[in-house]
Amino acid sequence: MWPFKLDNLDDLIRMREELKVPLEVSEDVGCLRQAVSIGPLSAPNSLAVQPMEGCDGDAAGRPRPLTARRYERFAGGGAGLLWFEAIAVAGEGRANPRQLWLNGETAGDFEKLVRQTRETARQRCGADHRPVLIAQLTHSGRYSKPDGTAKPVISCHDPYRDAMAPQIRPDKNFPMKLPPEYPVLTDDELDRLQASYVKAARLAFEAGFDGVDIKACHGYLISELLAGHTRQGRYGGAFENRTRFLLDVVERVREAAGSGKIITTRLGMYDALPLPYGWGVDREDYARADLAEPMKLIGLLEERGVAMVNVTLANPYYNPHCNRPFNQPVKGGYESPEHPLTGVSRAIELAGQVQRAFPKMAIVGSGYSWLQMMMPFVGAGVKRAGKAALIGAGRMAFAYPDFAHDILEKGQLDPDRVCISCSACSQIMRDGGITGCPVRDREVYGPIYRKILESLKTSNPREKKS
Ligand SMILES: Cc1cc2nc3c(=O)[nH]c(=O)nc-3n(C[C@H](O)[C@H](O)[C@H](O)COP(=O)(O)O)c2cc1C
Ligand code: SF4
Repeated sequence: MWPFKLDNLDDLIRMREELKVPLEVSEDVGCLRQAVSIGPLSAPNSLAVQPMEGCDGDAAGRPRPLTARRYERFAGGGAGLLWFEAIAVAGEGRANPRQLWLNGETAGDFEKLVRQTRETARQRCGADHRPVLIAQLTHSGRYSKPDGTAKPVISCHDPYRDAMAPQIRPDKNFPMKLPPEYPVLTDDELDRLQASYVKAARLAFEAGFDGVDIKACHGYLISELLAGHTRQGRYGGAFENRTRFLLDVVERVREAAGSGKIITTRLGMYDALPLPYGWGVDREDYARADLAEPMKLIGLLEERGVAMVNVTLANPYYNPHCNRPFNQPVKGGYESPEHPLTGVSRAIELAGQVQRAFPKMAIVGSGYSWLQMMMPFVGAGVKRAGKAALIGAGRMAFAYPDFAHDILEKGQLDPDRVCISCSACSQIMRDGGITGCPVRDREVYGPIYRKILESLKTSNPREKKS
């Protein structure tokens, strides 16, 4: 386990020197107040709430009261960009039976959610404060669990992901390893799936979102397609084929989007899995990123009018230490093999390379929550260095929805409210619960977390000792 407290800049700088990792810092956080142009839109400041799924919709995919509460808290927190969580485009692609799902039946509830979010932002942060609202559209691919049991939808087999899926998402109803004869989506099925994205995007625009994210990260369907080197046919093998689905969907959604609407993607830059199964990895050493292909893809996205990319990496099921650096793993997970600051620095550097290569785009950086009270100073350092236009907060927003207000108004964060990277929210999600922060939002999520821990003790008596 890594040290839990990080509350002064000298300690952080010392840590940076010891680990020999790049990390810009700035005590002056004023630059985070800058508005950011995103195509035809403008985010009123440089702080973003990252997509954070609460697994709290109803069976039809509608937002429920806890969903509305989450966005009310985010909206009142003052960030300039609110990136709504993963919303399924198809029932069979839901990651859990309570994942939000945008369709003809639920669209009206999303419209209400967007309206309430805007109203809260206006009331709490002033009439001029109009955050940019993005809907993240997804198909969970091999992590689909639409009825609570694993129903993987895969685009190709690979020994790493096939072996790990049931272990990281324990499911007594599913074999421990995906058998080689397990069916793979056909090209025709993928063609048809494109239409689900376009339909959901249209509904999202009608509901009042400013933009849609065609999610391409974290091992879900489109992210898996990007790494489909071994897949045959129109969607596998060559770069043109692996990127076809994402580019086609972006193109088709662009035709459906009215003026003033934007299309974006949350893009995994680097899978940290060996070739021929990884995306964005070095041919000789998969522990190193090779951004040649992801950069080429971003160039093609820019040509298609994409003005913002939310940069992330890896897979929260397989290598969460890369994706969301933590102090404490989930139960049944692994200790981080590297210092979490190394992971934070890697995420920042990857985003920085993209921002510098595409200076006209607004790049959103991820993975800052481990920094606790130091997050504003690193965020400001990154922004000043031109390594990201927007600084995103994921777990920090769960723990401390007012983080942006406090950074912008007070220049610092409250030590009693910051995220402590304890993985409890990931634990609840992994074990099928409605999630949030049981540490800083204890009244609501504490009982849920305690129940999960109890059920783990019953299912695995060894947990009683830990
Ligand atoms: C409980 C939980 C839910 C998440 N839900 C989503 C999601 O819906 N979509 C997504 O792209 N990332 C999701 N993430 C990842 C975060 O957006 C973010 O990338 C990650 O936590 C690292 O950023 P941080 O260090 O600020 O937390 C989730 C993470 C957690 C812990
Ligand atoms: S449970 Fe709360 S404190 Fe722990 S990692 Fe999640 S958001 Fe952070």
